Amino acid sequence: MPRAHLTLDPAFPIGPVRRRLFGGFVEHLGRHVYDGIHEPGHPTAGPDGFRRDVVELVRELGVSTIRYPGGNFVSGYNWEDGVGPVEQRPRRLDLAWHSTETNQVGLHEFQDWLDLVGSDLMLAVNLGTRGMPEALELLEYANTTSGTARSEQRATNGRQDPFGVEMWCLGNEMDGAWQLGHRDATDYGKLAAMTARAMKQLDRNLKLVVCGSSNRDMPTFGAWERIVLEHTYDDVDLISCHAYYEEHDGDLASFLASGTDMDAFIDSVVATADHVRAVKRAEKRIEISFDEWNVWYHSKWATVEKEFAPDDWPVAPRLLEDVYSVADAVTVGGLLISLLNHADRVASASLAQLVNVIGPIMTEPGGDAWRQTTFYPFSLTSRAAQGTALRVALDADATPTARFGEVPVVSAAATTDGDGISLFLQNRDTASPTTVTVDLSAFGRLSTVTASGIWDEDPYAVNDLANQNRVTPRTNETAALSGSTLTIELPAVSWTVVTIS
Ligand code: AHR
Repeated sequence: MPRAHLTLDPAFPIGPVRRRLFGGFVEHLGRHVYDGIHEPGHPTAGPDGFRRDVVELVRELGVSTIRYPGGNFVSGYNWEDGVGPVEQRPRRLDLAWHSTETNQVGLHEFQDWLDLVGSDLMLAVNLGTRGMPEALELLEYANTTSGTARSEQRATNGRQDPFGVEMWCLGNEMDGAWQLGHRDATDYGKLAAMTARAMKQLDRNLKLVVCGSSNRDMPTFGAWERIVLEHTYDDVDLISCHAYYEEHDGDLASFLASGTDMDAFIDSVVATADHVRAVKRAEKRIEISFDEWNVWYHSKWATVEKEFAPDDWPVAPRLLEDVYSVADAVTVGGLLISLLNHADRVASASLAQLVNVIGPIMTEPGGDAWRQTTFYPFSLTSRAAQGTALRVALDADATPTARFGEVPVVSAAATTDGDGISLFLQNRDTASPTTVTVDLSAFGRLSTVTASGIWDEDPYAVNDLANQNRVTPRTNETAALSGSTLTIELPAVSWTVVTIS
């Protein structure tokens, strides 16, 4: 049986676990907003049209900041279409997803929904078909108190108090040819710098996220980050990373090790940002907003998106509705471990997305809402990861992967809030359990240990409409403390959270 030995010591912190690490993402895409979170007439919908069963699940998921309204959608979006009397709002063609946008939900309605779910707003501005003036107008509308045209318009539209949005994204994936208004690094860098400077002139406390690469395989990756930061370093606070993973051709071992790729991605972007810092002799450090990450069977959906007839622009079509398996959930757990292990530089992250669209929550119109397998590693980590992320000294057997070579059979992250320790473990072995021992002698007296997680005899088991609770967290009864040593046996293809007090 493979084995791994870990040593934890509170004297070796990585950094604080910031709540924004557990953010989400809601895009106007498919059935995410319409027929997802917003379905007037649904038996659980309030007078505002928002489904309360979905609200409850989002609260349970434990998402902090939620990025909105896109995604690719934002690069063609006029924010003004989504404010004012609902019945007067225009219907528009959404070129990103070949859909019709009805604008029944806009900034005010979305903030009302955020108030219900208890999350904060992270707003993206359109730097695709629009630019700095429109971003400033939106900022004035959202954040100025009163006495200006846009703040008065906001009050007329029903909201006296400003939205007070702190986190702002300067466009979306501007390096991608699929993006409306796509441009090269220099042109985007100049546009982002000009926009950021203007926005900070209005409100110097904003946290601005400049677009990094859409993924690490982009031919411009690395150079893009360097050039964009050379233009924007003084005026922005974070740079974005986006990454989606899927199992290719039955290669489960590589898929489970996706966290290895995320580690390398983050390390490369940190190195590039610090290179620009060195050249500029700058004091400040740029942090990372990993504002799109998840498992996404992109290769399947890439063609479906193009299947609409030229004159077919449906409202809320079924798009990107991946159904997630146990293996997908274990991979999501591994990605959360990677994010925690970079808590010093990843200040914010957004699971992409939340409902129906590559989401941990699924709904049927007029029917049920349920948790996908991926719901569990996120909700359990969001709850258990508190205080400070710790360095994990890991001595583990290696397991082979086609994509990443030999990787440690176990990936691990740990946090402590002073009272207790939370340990997050992923067993990447596709066939065998792994025995883990953990040296906790640096923590003093320990009394209780509990462990739960996701695994199954069938790693491809899913939750769906017919069987919504096929996969739920299980208790791992093997976890035991002997003095200051923890032992636990991790099932093959599993993700586990251990809490020790
Ligand atoms: O999350 C789905 C899409 O993935 C987003 O719209 C885009 O930013 C990314 O390419």
